[in-house]
Amino acid sequence: MKLTAKSVALIPIIATVATAAIGATLIAPPVANAATTLAAAAQQSGRYFGTAVAASRLSDSTYAGILNREFDMVTAENEMKMDATEPNQNQFSYGNADRIVNQARSQGKRIRGHALAWHSQQPGWMQNMSGTALRNAMLNHVTQVATYYRGKIYAWDVVNEAFADGSSGARRDSNLQRTGNDWIEAAFRAARTADPGAKLCYNDYNTDDWSHAKTQAVYRMVQDFKSRGVPIDCVGLQSHFNSQSPVPSNYQTTLQNFANLGVDVQITELDIEGSGSTQAQNYQRVTQACLAVARCTGITVWGIRDTDSWRASGTPLLFDGSGNKKAAYNSTLDALNAGGGPGPTTTTTTTTTTTTSNDPGTGGCSATVSLNQWNEGFVATIKVTAGSTALRGWTVSTTLSNGTVTGSWSATRSGNSGTVNWTNVDYNANVPAGGSTEFGFQGSGNGSGLNPSCTAR
Ligand code: XIL
Repeated sequence: MKLTAKSVALIPIIATVATAAIGATLIAPPVANAATTLAAAAQQSGRYFGTAVAASRLSDSTYAGILNREFDMVTAENEMKMDATEPNQNQFSYGNADRIVNQARSQGKRIRGHALAWHSQQPGWMQNMSGTALRNAMLNHVTQVATYYRGKIYAWDVVNEAFADGSSGARRDSNLQRTGNDWIEAAFRAARTADPGAKLCYNDYNTDDWSHAKTQAVYRMVQDFKSRGVPIDCVGLQSHFNSQSPVPSNYQTTLQNFANLGVDVQITELDIEGSGSTQAQNYQRVTQACLAVARCTGITVWGIRDTDSWRASGTPLLFDGSGNKKAAYNSTLDALNAGGGPGPTTTTTTTTTTTTSNDPGTGGCSATVSLNQWNEGFVATIKVTAGSTALRGWTVSTTLSNGTVTGSWSATRSGNSGTVNWTNVDYNANVPAGGSTEFGFQGSGNGSGLNPSCTAR
């Protein structure tokens, strides 16, 4: 048969009818293109769907079967933690972590690294350390582990759970915190140097409700890191929910507000205690919230079957103890399929546009802007590219007709609306011929029409 445009268009319809005819119990025909696994459904919007994996369970064929079929991102549940990877000081042990990494990679799955620095699950030798010795041991750990896995990790939880619960908004007291308030940024800088390709995340729990002091405190830290050029790419919300800690009504607001700082957000350890339709609705809400936020890049559930969970008695996962799909599985899959439109780079409220302003030319420089705009504000990332001669300093002029700058990083600013000029800081003054560097700022209002132009100094 010669395939005409008309006959090609008919093929999917014929295939759907044939499928429906085979499935005798099928009541409604399947939604066109509906994906049948969590990973495939998430991929429709450029997102991932992951799970925590325990190395000891990989030999369980039901477990491995669901893992291979449903998930495209993997987190080691315990095997990459400090006590597992450095049981004795300067003696590193990667056997169980590698089992998980190799299994995931052989199946084409990506890996979230969890976690480089944490007050909990420290090896005994570290628990008793303090001061400079501990700071150095922590940085050595971050460097060694991130270097060992360089190129294999999609995102690292560089620091886990560093803020206190309750209303203080303070850092959690710990031996690491007592080495100095800058321990977190020191860890992030070490991780960036060791594995420049990995996204670097701050990960915590009880940071889901926008009104909570802990959420606000983490937000302010990320804002501060962005304003000072501390390397951070993402915020992980563990999202362990139960009746004491339910899915907050403002969950999507929290995700969006973190994203608005210019970082990705990831739901990193999702589990929701409960059963039946209530649990299913909660999973659906969490999934929909992620899909509604352009920079929510994926969801990881903290285990596969209820019986694999660290909170098994709360039956908080998507598969029952026998590996059957629960109502929560179906609602999650449906939400992923329904929300398959906007991907992590675009949403209905957020647009990313790139415009090139001026040509580098000989000896000059050019600037391009990538704008992340939402209803009330924006983040602009500006890339400065050197022409055929290395830059020893640069100035970028921008026009902000309908907005106001509220924060910036990696450049010095003059003005905050109208004509706003940006000058290099010390560490990004020198740009090799043809090379580039970035700075950015966030603002309220509308960031369109920035039209950056670059001048070499
Ligand atoms: C949990 C594991 O699931 C358990 O097996 C282990 O006994 C304790 O840690 N926040 C985190 C995770 O970041 O690493 C924790 O995982 C759950 C809470």
